[in-house]
Amino acid sequence: MCGIIGYVGSRAVVQILLEGLGKLEYRGYDSAGLAVNSAGKIKVFKAEGKLQNLKQVMANYTLSDTTAGIGHIRWATHGAPNKINAHPHTCNCGKLALVHNGIVENYKELREELTAEGCVFKTETDTETVAHLIAQEYGRCQSLPKAVRAAAKRLKGAYALCVMHQDEPNLLVGTRKNAPLIVALGENENYLASDCPAIIEYTKRVIYLDDDEFAVLTPDSVLITDADGKQIFKKEEILPWEPVAINKMGYKHFMLKEIHEQPDVIRNALSGKLHDMNSPVILDEVKLTADEIRNLKRIEIIACGTSLHAAMIAKYAIEAFTNIPVDVECSSEYIYRKTVTDAKTLVIGISQSGETSDTITAIRQAKAVGSHVLIITNRPDSIMAREAHSLIPVNAGIEVSVAATKSFNAQLIALYLFALFIAETKKSFDEGYIAKLKHELLQLPPKVEMILSHKENIMKCAKTFASFRNFIYIARGINYATALEGALKLKEISYINATGYPAGELKHGPIAMLDETMPVLAVLMPGVVYDKVLSNAEEAKARNARLIALTSSEDAALENLFEYILKVPPVDEYLSPVIASVPLQLLAYYIAEFLGKDVDQPRNLAKSVTVE
Ligand code: M6R
Repeated sequence: MCGIIGYVGSRAVVQILLEGLGKLEYRGYDSAGLAVNSAGKIKVFKAEGKLQNLKQVMANYTLSDTTAGIGHIRWATHGAPNKINAHPHTCNCGKLALVHNGIVENYKELREELTAEGCVFKTETDTETVAHLIAQEYGRCQSLPKAVRAAAKRLKGAYALCVMHQDEPNLLVGTRKNAPLIVALGENENYLASDCPAIIEYTKRVIYLDDDEFAVLTPDSVLITDADGKQIFKKEEILPWEPVAINKMGYKHFMLKEIHEQPDVIRNALSGKLHDMNSPVILDEVKLTADEIRNLKRIEIIACGTSLHAAMIAKYAIEAFTNIPVDVECSSEYIYRKTVTDAKTLVIGISQSGETSDTITAIRQAKAVGSHVLIITNRPDSIMAREAHSLIPVNAGIEVSVAATKSFNAQLIALYLFALFIAETKKSFDEGYIAKLKHELLQLPPKVEMILSHKENIMKCAKTFASFRNFIYIARGINYATALEGALKLKEISYINATGYPAGELKHGPIAMLDETMPVLAVLMPGVVYDKVLSNAEEAKARNARLIALTSSEDAALENLFEYILKVPPVDEYLSPVIASVPLQLLAYYIAEFLGKDVDQPRNLAKSVTVE
């Protein structure tokens, strides 16, 4: 959360900062700001709200003789999302400016200490303490790199920092701890950024900073040091992608475009790994020997949000196909308890972004006790990917909308392939059934296409129910997590209170809430729990709830029970979450659209959650 960028060189600094921030807006949009060294002075500009507001502010200025600049896009943690709290933050003399991504956990003590020493605080942020702290050190040593290193020794928490000083106009200093920061190398210009999209238009040459490393940038040099100023020789890497024009391709929102990309995303995720129903799954990415696979005693899957729902679905498939017990846990719970993870446990981390802070901490804990860590991510250049023992990139392409859609189904495909790969290695599941599943996996793209070309009923349903303030989603078995995911989609983009329940749990409490104001959506995919979910839906109907079914069943009797039937093509029950998730994404999308919500950038959220 929060995106930072820094530039030192002779090009139009403001333009580079604004364009870079545009590529980082997925990380937050509470406020935006930038500082430039122009005509020998640090000048700071800020605006509350989206980047567009800062662009309007900057349209009024022509800045001459700019040598370096830093920019920030904020997801507020400490202090209201207003202009005052927007970054960059400065010291009292205004000569030092910095931008920060992360949380300084000991900021209260530092603020008290600095206040007692005469610093005057202008904002409510944790970040301002860092500006004063570095300025104080600068007063002693008159060197920005030294001052940043000295101040960093006093910081606790997570930070990626980019700092500039008026008296060293051609220099930027960056450092990080538990938050991403890359150095990008140009010709007579250099960059710092939270993420590669901010710089890919200008250069593909990058250095990934590690924790407690410091980068000192001038237009024609980059020096990386440790916390004591000792030079570290880091490998330069070439980004494996081309600058992509990120646009909506005629769709009203990125979310709708990304939902429609899913047939190709699924094809991509299968490509090179599954050729036909009679060939084995190829998963060279899993760096475990056949013996190690056969000896696996346990699997733990750790993830957050939508990725956690993919993990919950995978548990059903992996346990059924491989007989290996699977535990699924959300990362933020995993990291603050004594777990029994050990060297015999395979730990799978799932993350679209590969930089979710809680999941990074969790996989580091698992690595520390000797577990093999497999990462499934859409960002093979991310922190998680670089720390993995095994890495399955899901290749869904950049996902811009905050609500995850295509990355969810790409993760599911990777997880099904993984489950089948283990089953084939262990010979733990019926061969005929494995072949059937492979055949059906390859049939998923046209089935998703079919759903996407018949959206009218989903749109009608969305219109009917858009005015409701509460929703219940029910399902059982492998689709319980599909219901959770459908409810999460609706919550996050429409702000409607939608809750997913295992259908059998309704009668243990939630049924008390049911009446005509509480629509119930039943994920009713044919399989072992079909009749059970149907009975639970009948129970809801008896309490006057208005019912929606999501099903591939042809049973005509359903029409008497359900007000809307969202039909999907038939599919094997194990794979049904892929098919069932698509109408749920569309339903959430159209409801939010009818309500006029900011679909791609819902309030209070960010695409990458880099704080605890
Ligand atoms: O990048 P990750 O997959 O680790 O992100 C996890 C969650 O923050 C993410 O899935 C979030 O719940 C999405 N907004 C869901 O649409």
